[in-house]
Amino acid sequence: MFYHLIKKALFHLNPEQAHEFISKQMKYIMYSPIQNMFRQTINYKPMHCMGLTFKNPLGLAAGFDKNGEYIYAFGIMGFGFLEIGTVTPNPQYGNKKPRLFRLIEAEGLINRMGCNNLGIDRLVENLKKVKYNCIIGINIGKNQDTPIEYCKDDYLICMEKIYHYANYIAINISSPNTPNLRVLQYGEILEDLLQSIKDKQSFLTKKYQKYVPIAIKISPDLTEKEIIQISDSLIRHQIDGVIATNTTLDRQLIKGLRYSNEEGGLSGRPIQLKSTEIIRLLSKELKGKLTIIGVGGIDSLIAAKEKLAAGASLLQIYSGFIYHGPKLIKNIVNYI
Ligand SMILES: Cc1cc2nc3c(=O)[nH]c(=O)nc-3n(C[C@H](O)[C@H](O)[C@H](O)COP(=O)(O)O)c2cc1C
Repeated sequence: MFYHLIKKALFHLNPEQAHEFISKQMKYIMYSPIQNMFRQTINYKPMHCMGLTFKNPLGLAAGFDKNGEYIYAFGIMGFGFLEIGTVTPNPQYGNKKPRLFRLIEAEGLINRMGCNNLGIDRLVENLKKVKYNCIIGINIGKNQDTPIEYCKDDYLICMEKIYHYANYIAINISSPNTPNLRVLQYGEILEDLLQSIKDKQSFLTKKYQKYVPIAIKISPDLTEKEIIQISDSLIRHQIDGVIATNTTLDRQLIKGLRYSNEEGGLSGRPIQLKSTEIIRLLSKELKGKLTIIGVGGIDSLIAAKEKLAAGASLLQIYSGFIYHGPKLIKNIVNYI
């Protein structure tokens, strides 16, 4: 009821203005009595994955809190974990506005944000101040202006800087809004990246006396053959988890709808089945060797259960949270 009213007002603003407005409120929530309106009692449903204990299996997907500014607010809503980022070595503005669109009839979003963020150093400063204890994944990426042949360095710089603060690290090689990023999902370039990341992880494990698991975030636009190949690489390099999926470039699912021709990645209900199918394929190939984090169009308890049945152990939401608000967390976690 409460979110229903806020949503009505927010949906009068353009999507990015709405995001900025609600973000501003969330930043100060910890100092204000209105925090009780967001606080939810969620059942304790522990999940043990990647060597970590999650208090429940539902997390916030990457892209909402890119700079680690709203951890307290999301924490009290009851998420089992939060994925912060995507963060890049240097701050970047992203693409020019407008860059976020609501497809209301389909409960979808199209975004071409372009990984706007304040850079890794600011994120580290924010993490040092966090006053909420929950599992935090940090999603890292390359700067838009880093040529693809040097992009490995961007990931390694970010790993070095956030290793101490992260519970797990997510490697974003699947955003459709950073030119060429998705080529990192294939062949030798993927092999080389995974090897460098594992070497860095070994080095940092010794340095900090702490093993931080690595999860790779993939696209829903991969073919079955590509999923088989990527699964093989992830197993061989002993990667800990895979996040499936990012947004899609496919427009079949929203043909004829307003904004359907906007460039960018589509998320929300239209990608629900597509991402579940990818999870099913991954699960068949990975045979339990990696944790699968299922994301894409989860907007209900049923959708969440489908992802779990397909092979995911952990779940994340983004678009569903925009359309249904904090209650979705309760509706899913308390009944799975
Ligand atoms: C506005 C917006 C920004 C996003 N930014 C990122 C990002 O920075 N990094 C990333 O890995 N995924 C990003 N995503 C993708 C989400 O994390 C998620 O994988 C995708 O939206 C599918 O989940 P959903 O259908 O629940 O939204 C973004 C999604 C949206 C809608």
